[in-house]
Amino acid sequence: MPRKQKSVLLCVLTVCITSLVVGVEEKQTDEECADLNNTTWQEYRRHRVKLQVQYLLLTRRNIDCAQVFNQESLTETQQQSSYFNISRPTKVIIHGYRALGSKPSWVKQLAQALLRAQDVNVVVVDWVYGASFAYNLVVENYKDVALQISVLINQLQEHGCKLESFHFIGVSLGAHVAGFVGTLFEGKIGRITGLDPAGPMFKGADTYDRLDPSDAQFVDAIHTDSDYFGISIPVGHVDFFLNGGKDQTGCARSRFASILVYFPVYGYVICDHMRALHVYMSALNGSCPLVGIPCYSYEDFMKGRCVDCAIYKGTCPTVGLSENCGITVSPIPREQKLFLLTSSSPPFCSHHILLQLEVSPLDKSAEVEVKLMTDNLGTERRLRLQRDTTVYRTVLSHPVALCEIYSIQLKNTGARFYRQGDIHIKSVCLSEFPSLRREEPICVNNINIRRGAPWSHDFVQVCG
Ligand SMILES: *[C@@H]1O[C@H](CO)[C@@H](O)[C@H](O)[C@H]1NC(C)=O
Ligand SMILES: *[C@@H]1O[C@H](CO)[C@@H](O)[C@H](O)[C@H]1NC(C)=O
Ligand SMILES: *[C@@H]1O[C@H](CO)[C@@H](O)[C@H](O)[C@H]1NC(C)=O
Ligand SMILES: *[C@@H]1O[C@H](CO)[C@@H](O)[C@H](O)[C@H]1NC(C)=O
Repeated sequence: MPRKQKSVLLCVLTVCITSLVVGVEEKQTDEECADLNNTTWQEYRRHRVKLQVQYLLLTRRNIDCAQVFNQESLTETQQQSSYFNISRPTKVIIHGYRALGSKPSWVKQLAQALLRAQDVNVVVVDWVYGASFAYNLVVENYKDVALQISVLINQLQEHGCKLESFHFIGVSLGAHVAGFVGTLFEGKIGRITGLDPAGPMFKGADTYDRLDPSDAQFVDAIHTDSDYFGISIPVGHVDFFLNGGKDQTGCARSRFASILVYFPVYGYVICDHMRALHVYMSALNGSCPLVGIPCYSYEDFMKGRCVDCAIYKGTCPTVGLSENCGITVSPIPREQKLFLLTSSSPPFCSHHILLQLEVSPLDKSAEVEVKLMTDNLGTERRLRLQRDTTVYRTVLSHPVALCEIYSIQLKNTGARFYRQGDIHIKSVCLSEFPSLRREEPICVNNINIRRGAPWSHDFVQVCG
């Protein structure tokens, strides 16, 4: 073989091998899924807080395997190697404080729930490096994260994305990051949802520094730990306070949380705080409606003083993705507190039953226990009866609708303590709210409950 030919052949072979290797490498990177970063205490100590932000993209085409998303992805969009679709709306997920430097485990679940509900781009903001360990230092970082996000949004705008097509979903501190992005775009972003927006260092903050209704065209928030990690003031157009917004059913009390922050029990302690996220994800699944009722305070709500949505012309706002939470009145009222009761596990929905009790005047204080029964599901409430009050109203959370309640039981539970003899009840009435159909409450009249002798009544009714 002449020397020249030999070298040509070698050259061809080299090219072949090179392209083969490159081909394999390309295939490998294609199959590798991007993930959120994580950090350790040691690493953190060595480098101090370095803010590093990366973005991950999930769409219906790569629902299980995130792509890294950055400036280059935008030019790649035209070449189809990035799945970002400029003509679709974009959901931006922002996590919050990471006490232990671990990546948030719920991100994929939330992204997938969003993608099941809508065909959108889901961009995940990963700022784990800047969000870990010392809370006060993390709070110093949150505006820088927002600034970096705003650069990306500007680039997306240049490629034709509209500001109103962005919906930011921020968890805890992430809600205030989203709020500051909103401030930078003068409230022109479509929507911001805050999932238990962070409270510590934000409650007294200026609206410029925290999430507030001026940050987007529509701002909704869910509050589940407002006495601890969450914020207690309304920050959106609508603010859903679940079970009063402080302590959630099925969660241990988070009172001593700050001492425990650096210990493994942390995950358990933030149960109240993370409930907002879990309820939101459940709402995205759409298995049942989570409806909020406007009221001045939780106390008023629990006393049955707020049972309709007149300020929204009768349509009560729902947790989830529906436009403006289903509100059709314009302009949308701001900082409206909404209350609802939930159950302790998915899908979290429960029915609001208003109980009204009218008693004949008593000689002494007394206590009655009211129990609503459906199959083996029961809801009970103890009511303190005062000498000078004859009408009582209270709200109960029940797993099924009023028309499915089998029976009501009343018991004189305070007889031994208060020494009150029989209690004469003029009427006990149950109704469900909010109700579109103006149903009459179901009532039972003229009941005597004696010491140690529970009274019960079976309802004969079928859901229509
Ligand atoms: C963060 O994760 C990405 C992969 O998703 C990786 O490319 C990058 O190097 C990581 N950053 C650091 C600082 O480890
Ligand atoms: C942290 O990230 C590294 C590199 O991305 C990965 O190998 C490791 O499993 C991660 N650790 C945890 C606890 O997720
Ligand atoms: C991008 O989205 C538009 C609108 O939903 C759709 O018509 C189009 O096919 C999408 N493009 C790609 C490449 O999926
Ligand atoms: C939502 O639905 C999916 C699929 O049906 C299920 O895997 C997931 O657990 C549900 N999530 C919640 C929070 O209900």
